[in-house]
Amino acid sequence: MTKTTIELKLNGETRRVDVEPNDVLLDVLREKLGVKSPKVGCDRGDCGTCTIFFNGVTVRSCLVLAMEADGAEIVTLEGISKDGPTKLQQAFVKHSSFQCGFCAPGMVLSATELLQKNPHPAKEDIQEAIAGNLCRCTGYSPIIEAIADAAKK
Ligand code: FES
Ligand code: FES
Repeated sequence: MTKTTIELKLNGETRRVDVEPNDVLLDVLREKLGVKSPKVGCDRGDCGTCTIFFNGVTVRSCLVLAMEADGAEIVTLEGISKDGPTKLQQAFVKHSSFQCGFCAPGMVLSATELLQKNPHPAKEDIQEAIAGNLCRCTGYSPIIEAIADAAKK
């Protein structure tokens, strides 16, 4: 298959990478660009663990072809916490929100997007915002409490 070079802004840096037409963005981020926070979970759009910001909006990177990212601005957990843990991340730590942590990167990005759009969300807003991020460990309560706590600050 024919390789194409795409150029994207990844966590603030311009990066160029060769991709094939059927390469998936999640795999290219992890395997060719060294960004490991988006995790490979279901690989079919169901679990949210591969969530990233794509031009300012969260998407599931397992559902995006790498070629679609040509010219895009991508932000992952690495970019969000470049200057240290955000208030939201500190709240997750304070509330011991995660156990295995596999869902955490996607959860942080979905909650970050929520607080950007709605700085004072109701509990229902939080539940809706993270509805696409599956967590098999926690029962969600400590995650919801942390997001609500971060919104107060
Ligand atoms: S790995 Fe992308 S949604 Fe599950
Ligand atoms: S903490 Fe394990 S999946 Fe969420």
